[in-house]
Parts: sequence; C-alpha cells; structure tokens
Amino acid sequence: MHKSVLDILKMKKEGKKISVITSYDYTLASLCDKADIDILLVGDSAGMVMLGYENTIPVTMDQMCLFTEAVSRARKNSLLVADLPFMSYQTNIDDAIRNSGRLIKAGADAVKLEGGSVMAETISAIVDVGIPVMGHIGLQPQTTMLSQGYKVQGKTKDIAMKLIDDAKELEEAGVFSIALEMVTHEVAEIISETISVPTIGIGSGKGCDGQVLVVQDLLGMYDKLEPKFVKKYMNLSEDIVKALENYKTDIESGSFPAQENYFSMDDEELKKLREEIGR
Ligand code: KIV
Repeated sequence: MHKSVLDILKMKKEGKKISVITSYDYTLASLCDKADIDILLVGDSAGMVMLGYENTIPVTMDQMCLFTEAVSRARKNSLLVADLPFMSYQTNIDDAIRNSGRLIKAGADAVKLEGGSVMAETISAIVDVGIPVMGHIGLQPQTTMLSQGYKVQGKTKDIAMKLIDDAKELEEAGVFSIALEMVTHEVAEIISETISVPTIGIGSGKGCDGQVLVVQDLLGMYDKLEPKFVKKYMNLSEDIVKALENYKTDIESGSFPAQENYFSMDDEELKKLREEIGR
C-alpha cells in the first residue's frame, strides 16, 4: 500500500523529514519510488524539463494528465501529487474542481496549486469534494515570474508577514502541506513552526519539514538553469553524452552489435534456406 496524506501529516508530528522529488515519466518514477522517496510530484516544471518550454505557462491539463498517468503506473510506495497547470484553477472554482478531478482520475492522490490567501476559497472547495491539496507560496513560477522573475521571497518584514499570513490561511483552507519556493530560510522556519501541516521547501532552507527538487536538477541532466539551491548528486548529462558517443563509435567501427546482441537461425534451417535461394 502506498503512502497516504495521513502518513505525510504524521511524519511532521513525529519530527521525520519528508523527501519529495518531481517525476514525469515511468522509468525515472519507478527509480524514485524504489528509493522510497515519500512524495512523487508531477510538477508543471515538466513543461521545461520534459517539453523544453521557457517556463511553466504553456503547460496544459492534457499534458499534466499524461505525465500523471505514466508516474502512477510506476509508483508503488510514494504519495503521488500532481500540479494544476496555469489557468486550470485560477478561472473559477468549478474549473478548479473539475481539473483536480481529472488529475485524480489520471492517478494522483492529491493536487498542488500556486497562490496564497487569494486561493483559499478555491482550496476549500477542492478539499470539500474530498481531494487533498498541497499549497505553494513564495516564488510561484506560474505568476511571480510574470512580474518579478526568479527572485527570493520574504526578504523584508512586510513580505515576510504576508507569507506567514498566507501560510496560515492555506492551513485554515485545509491544505495537507505547503511548498515554499525560494523563501528566505528565516521566514520558512517561522512558517514551519507556526502551522501544523508540513512545509516542503525548495531553496527555502533547513527549517522546512521536507525538501523537494526537480529530478533532472538533482541528477545533473538539465543545464539550462542552475539555481543555487540545487544539489547535484550526479553529473548524468556528461555520462549520457559519453555513452552515446561510445555507441556511435561502436556502430561506425562495427563492434556493435556483437554476437551476443543478435539472433541466429538453426543450422539445418539455414542450410535449407541457402539451398533454396542459391547463396
Ligand atoms: O513544478 C514543480 O516542479 C514544482 C516544485 C519544484 C515545487 O512546483
């Protein structure tokens, strides 16, 4: 049985840190699940790392459903959370519920959406129909990017207060956790100590109840952006390119495929075939 939202809430009560990683495809999601990562997040960052968009704005519901279906076929242990993409929930509450339902039907256990107090009513409505919601405040790539670009959030007292109030409102609205993106570590720690649901930080310091990274960043496969908060555990892009260059060289030199890589006919059958075609 895979982890549930209740298991994640319990982890905070027991002081256990929560591991979260983004996942978009069957192969990598199987490995993340095997590593017993607590939450697989089908983030709308898929638009950038899987589809090559400049940002997350073009991502559609159909794309998010496809990624969620692939990840849901892979996961056995982790909780599966999927992002509602830009304009799939901001338009009105009916859209938010309908699109959350689509992600649940695609295999998610919960949905994530960006926004502070302005989203509280929408979150309550989704939670009321029985769909767990993860909030997302601080840097909100779907909208903050339009006005401010990639900018650390919570550097001044007033913005810090707004973030703390947003977190409290999301908790009241019923979220089971809140992602804090690029929030100063002092504010992230205060929020984590103030609210009872877990905070999941990305670039927001140690004081969060859990951490999330984009899987391609952690594995060193996506070099277009290299934010300070990423820890690269591998340099996979270098290894992959080396492997592909070796493959090309082997084809060119004739050392691939070798005998163990192909299939043979029975000697008798081959003899008969040669007789028949005269070769
Ligand atoms: O889309 C995403 O990957 C995210 C996380 C990085 C929090 O929202």
